[in-house]
Amino acid sequence: MKINFTRNSYIRFYKKHKKEIHKAISRCLNKGSLIMESEVKRFEKNFAKFCNRKYCLSVASGTDALKLACHGRKVHFISKYRYRLPIKNCKNSRNIVVTYMNSVQPNFEELRKLKKKHNFFLIEDACQAVGRPLIGDISCFSFYPAKILGGIGKGGALVTDNKKIYQKLKKIRDDKWNNIWLDEVHAAFLNVKLKYLPQLLGKRQKIADYYNKHLPKEIIWNKNCLQNYLIVTDRHNEFIKYMRKKGIEVISDKSDFYEGNLKNAVRIPIYSELTLKEIKYVVKTIKEFFKK
Ligand SMILES: Cc1ncc(COP(=O)(O)O)c(C=O)c1O
Repeated sequence: MKINFTRNSYIRFYKKHKKEIHKAISRCLNKGSLIMESEVKRFEKNFAKFCNRKYCLSVASGTDALKLACHGRKVHFISKYRYRLPIKNCKNSRNIVVTYMNSVQPNFEELRKLKKKHNFFLIEDACQAVGRPLIGDISCFSFYPAKILGGIGKGGALVTDNKKIYQKLKKIRDDKWNNIWLDEVHAAFLNVKLKYLPQLLGKRQKIADYYNKHLPKEIIWNKNCLQNYLIVTDRHNEFIKYMRKKGIEVISDKSDFYEGNLKNAVRIPIYSELTLKEIKYVVKTIKEFFKK
């Protein structure tokens, strides 16, 4: 059996919703609406609603969303070590960016208390945490194809409840010289996908639950990873080789940023479009490897 890391997610979603996607895209093409028209507006309205926020600004990538959110602010990134969140070290910062790598979030109660006490402005990098609870003054998202709300190219958005911030950032976003607009055709696709997002998230949760239940406990890094499901093993290279030989594409997540056993992380497929047969095959293959 061949299981690729994300490509089948794109193909299967497209095939399943082909009619709806074609209809949405041809709506734009038939009208000649390609830049900043009704699909973009509709997406912003619906995505703000999905995030339970008043305002949304779509942009050309998650990076653009973060840059726009940080505009004019001297920011302090507390996610330097990505998985350790040394929030307490940041009491002197006025603007903080927190990244939720692999959908993992810090303790919100603690963060809320600190925010209240030190009164800092909080920007969330929620590029890997769509559908998770939000706490930031601004929250940023990516619609890069491999993301949970993956589009048909690069895309991103930020959401906020603050009208003044929204208006200020909208002016910057709308300035065509900044070149950070989300394409209309892309928004049309995202409008279709957004409708299915609760379903897609539910499906990912089910796959994570299955992995959590059936994989050896000691190799599971975190049970809540819906964006990237991580396996940790010091037989890292051998594991990747074995999985690939068995037809399963896995991705090494080695990074100098990581600490402890995360230095040996490997991502395994977790997209919503995986079949039960494929999920079972992934589990069976991993178990076989660790029995050796
Ligand atoms: C945590 C995080 N932040 C920011 C980004 C940047 O998003 P984009 O690739 O859409 O610019 C990504 C996506 O790769 C991400 O995973």
